[in-house]
Amino acid sequence: METTNDRVISENVDAVALITINRPQALNALDQLTLQQLDAAISVIEDDPHIKVAIITGSGSKAFVAGGDVSVMQPLDPLEARRMAVDVQELLNKIEYGNTVFIAAINGYALGGGCELALACDIRIAADSAQLGQPEVNLGIIPGWGGTQRLPRLVGSSRAKQLMLTGERISAAQAAQIGLVNEVVAATELLARAQELAQTIASKPKMALQLIKEAVNNGLEMDMNRAFGYEADLFGLCFATADQKEGMLAFLEKRQPKWRDQ
Ligand code: CAA
Repeated sequence: METTNDRVISENVDAVALITINRPQALNALDQLTLQQLDAAISVIEDDPHIKVAIITGSGSKAFVAGGDVSVMQPLDPLEARRMAVDVQELLNKIEYGNTVFIAAINGYALGGGCELALACDIRIAADSAQLGQPEVNLGIIPGWGGTQRLPRLVGSSRAKQLMLTGERISAAQAAQIGLVNEVVAATELLARAQELAQTIASKPKMALQLIKEAVNNGLEMDMNRAFGYEADLFGLCFATADQKEGMLAFLEKRQPKWRDQ
């Protein structure tokens, strides 16, 4: 199934969705319309019980997303800017805390809000030609779509501060070195690798995928003792699923499991 709005294209094949931010003339910078269409595409995917994994990428070979649209932000007053930050944070939280596994396929510049979009995803794969960064300081602002919080949690506060304080772009290889991206592949292989990873994940039972996301995301916000208790609760919850019974029975019967995603 394919849903085409002009700014965001969403295509589903079986359990995997491909979301393409499609504003290449502005290096896929996120203006209001693009953000609205991205929000709508994510809601449709989250509401579709058959989708397990979504890949997010950018149109064209130059950019994943070159940031929030600077021409939209330039005239904002403080309250409007705050409202915008809160709205986009909510959108990116839908990705981080949603039931779908999100893979960012970073095909070029991932700057500012583009890097923040990638940070909200569960896994990041980058083309060797990609460049990442938080250049907001060069515009007299700070990252406002989650970057000051997600980036240090992912790469450590010192590396995150260096990126944000200098505004410098780093290569995909450097991003992999600091753990900002999981893998770097040749640009021509990017979508194929993202699809391969998506298929591997989509072949797993949906409830276990969701509970792994929940355990990691929520557990990171707790102290260790509460987090272990939370993990034990979610582990127990797995045993309420048909797929736990089937997965373990299939192992014992030395056959492949037949997942029902229940
Ligand atoms: N907002 C609006 N338009 C943008 C844009 C952005 N973030 N990034 C690129 N564009 C537009 C350019 O204005 C240009 O449009 P025109 O052809 O109409 O002039 C077009 O995309 C192509 O861009 P360039 O000509 O600049 O391309 P380049 O190859 O010379 O440079 C680049 C590429 C280094 C990515 C450069 O475009 C750039 O620095 N972009 C801005 C990156 C940035 O600062 N991002 C952070 C934005 S703020 C933010 O995101 C804050 C937040 O937390 C939400």
